[in-house]
Amino acid sequence: MADRELGFRRNAQGALTISGTPLGALLAPLIEASRIGTPAYVYDLDGLSAGARALEASFGTAPHLTAYAVKANTAGTVVRALAAAGTGADVVSGGELEVALGAGIAPRNIVMSGVGKTDAELDQAIGRDIFAVQVESVEEIERLAARARAAGKRARLGLRVKPGVLIDSHAHVATGHDQAKFGIARSELGAAWERVDAHPELVGVGVSAHVGSMLREVEPYLASARVVVDVVKTRLASGRALEYLDFGGGYGIDYGDAPAPAPPSFVSRSLALLAAEGLEKLRFVIEPGRSLVGAYGVLVARVVQTKQSEGRRWTMLDAGMNDLVRPALYGAKHRVELLDAAPAEPEWRVVGPVCESSDDFGAHPLGPSPSGLVAIRDAGAYGFVLASEYNGRALPAEVFVSGGAVTHVSASPGRDAWVKRRLEA
Ligand code: LLP
Repeated sequence: MADRELGFRRNAQGALTISGTPLGALLAPLIEASRIGTPAYVYDLDGLSAGARALEASFGTAPHLTAYAVKANTAGTVVRALAAAGTGADVVSGGELEVALGAGIAPRNIVMSGVGKTDAELDQAIGRDIFAVQVESVEEIERLAARARAAGKRARLGLRVKPGVLIDSHAHVATGHDQAKFGIARSELGAAWERVDAHPELVGVGVSAHVGSMLREVEPYLASARVVVDVVKTRLASGRALEYLDFGGGYGIDYGDAPAPAPPSFVSRSLALLAAEGLEKLRFVIEPGRSLVGAYGVLVARVVQTKQSEGRRWTMLDAGMNDLVRPALYGAKHRVELLDAAPAEPEWRVVGPVCESSDDFGAHPLGPSPSGLVAIRDAGAYGFVLASEYNGRALPAEVFVSGGAVTHVSASPGRDAWVKRRLEA
């Protein structure tokens, strides 16, 4: 196992494998026994664990926290595997907080972000003694103080700074620019710290930023990191202590179109910055989501119909935008490949069954397929978590693979459960 190549790859016969084991062979018994149907998400736990361990190793002896952005993939099996590899969690809701804790992540390794945390969520974060609530407005500081007072406790908080850096990514995932709803403007930081210091039930412990998602270069990340460093140094210079700085997540992955720097390169460049600024003793926090899970999941679907009309070739899948919304929502490209044969001409336009023109996975070289199964690649992040039941379609199953075998199956709730719930509504 040690020298086996991890991840999704094609073997000499052209079949898609997980760390060497053909996906078709892993799924066939489950489909036969009706434990799963299609579409189904399939995850490579060994691959994602190895990726997380490599990231952890890149910190060397630096005090740090890899706060996995749980929103990318909330499956307990995934969160537990990442936690076993050493990660903590960045959560954005009470539900995600409970998943992180339930998966065994210690409260001291959890941060909570989000522009609209409810009172109940703040109470939960305070009650669970998490590492830091990252507040995103001066107004939220007041509310956090009030909740801490009501609970008779002190709340640990970080300020999320708006770094004012616009990244070259889809507008929907750029979060650090001046017009973004996220974070506290630099011009308001003085007022923010003043409010923190005015409340004995608050402890200001850190500063964070998140510049956006799908970074294909380290430089914008460092530009945002330098803003965090500035804010931290100003605070320390005022005689106040801090425990951490958090440069956020956003590391891109290669969806088969363009390479992205590996997560450890973001870490090593950041550590160099911290050393140069004399801040290497603070806990260095990062919040990667996609880069820890994206490449380690596929959505397996079945071809239900082909159609050739007026020179066009269409392939209709039983997976649609309700199962994987990224193409419809962000124009994202995911490779669609036959499960059991290498890509072959001609190209087909691959679409889902949903009654929306945006339910379209793009053109892909799909030759004849023995099984009729395809894999939509790199669907491990922002896949299942964004799935819906639109058009009366049940949520897909999830299958977890480790050591060349299926170790866990989370079944689809199924059509009948959907019908029952809608009739009861
Ligand atoms: N930290 C914060 C505060 C975030 O808002 C996010 C992502 C992350 C960390 C993790 O970012 P990542 O490392 O995964 O890029 N649904 C979109 C991505 C939305 C990202 C939202 N925030 C997509 O499918 O591309």
